[in-house]
Amino acid sequence: MNKGSAIYPGSFDPPTNGHLDLIQRGSKIFEELVVAILRNPEKSPMFSLGERLEMLRELTADLKNVRIDTFDGLMVEYAKSIDAMCILRGIRAISDYEYELQMALMNRKLEPTLETVFMMPADKYSYVSSRLVREVAQAGGPVKGLVPEVVEQKLRQKLEPAYKLRDPELERPEKQVPRKRKKKR
Ligand code: PNS
Repeated sequence: MNKGSAIYPGSFDPPTNGHLDLIQRGSKIFEELVVAILRNPEKSPMFSLGERLEMLRELTADLKNVRIDTFDGLMVEYAKSIDAMCILRGIRAISDYEYELQMALMNRKLEPTLETVFMMPADKYSYVSSRLVREVAQAGGPVKGLVPEVVEQKLRQKLEPAYKLRDPELERPEKQVPRKRKKKR
């Protein structure tokens, strides 16, 4: 078992700034961090596995000890197969705790030698989730600052032409074209 190696599993549909923040933090404390995307044939994701792989690879290209991979079946089996010692998960708020605790204890039951380590992303991302990002984007709302730029572009491409990703900059009053005043008679 490699004591310096951890796995950060998830769906990453799509990767958010919260995920990226956690990857950056994790990469500082583990020798190697494997970001593992679940291959789940039952779910119909917004982004294909290939798209998520590509986005995460691009986003972590400068982190030399981070590797992106995919897995199916039991996560602990995959973690063992790559010799990882820890499972890294993020906790944003108390509401995450119950689900994460249950999952950590089940994983411990399945593989007692694997430890789950929780880290908190920056508080500015505490409300950001892939599900909400998808929901906002699908309704045409702005997701700037919630996801990395490359993800924002992919969302725009995927949802066009129905999707008009609004740029908050263009919505400021000073950026709006002034209307012509009617001449007084
Ligand atoms: O991003 P998500 O959806 O919160 O990630 C959940 C994930 C992928 C970590 C979890 O569903 C998982 O590990 N699935 C693989 C199957 C498995 O091992 N299930 C038992 C977990 S207790």
